Amino acid sequence: MHGVSLAALDTACIVLSGAALVLGRWRIARGDVRGHKAAMLTASAFAFLFLVLYLLRGQLEGVVHYDRTGPQRWIYFTVLTVHTILATAVVPLAAVTLSRALRGRFAAHRRVARWTFPIWLTVAVTGWLIYLLLYVF
Ligand code: HEM
Repeated sequence: MHGVSLAALDTACIVLSGAALVLGRWRIARGDVRGHKAAMLTASAFAFLFLVLYLLRGQLEGVVHYDRTGPQRWIYFTVLTVHTILATAVVPLAAVTLSRALRGRFAAHRRVARWTFPIWLTVAVTGWLIYLLLYVF
């Protein structure tokens, strides 16, 4: 498959995961546990799909070099650094958050989820930004 389209598919997963995440946060704020659960499981599934596609893309296409200079280069690498660090942190955090919820340990779930949510959202938004900086701007 063409490089850009596989990257676009991968980025679509981040966008869908982020949208489901925001929906899930909104549902639980309204006290809708079923809606929250469905949205968060959807967010987790898209995040997992993203990870699989991302690793596959690394194998198939290698890394993309960013060759622009000037302030854009600094913006790109700053966003990439923040994204990479937080994305690494969010994997175990999301696993713990999900596992506590699925075992019915909701008080403990809530404690960790309050960290997981903003970090995950930042990963989703910066992931989307990286795509735009690489292929659109
Ligand atoms: C990894 C995905 C998930 C994330 C990021 C997440 C996020 C959150 C957040 C941020 C809260 C706190 C809301 C607040 O403080 O007002 C919360 C609460 C809650 N979540 Fe999740 N959640 C996830 C998955 C699930 C699942 C699968 C269930 C299954 C039923 C669930 C059930 C609940 C319940 C019952 C609460 C209320 C807990 C309480 O207030 O005591 N969550 N979640």
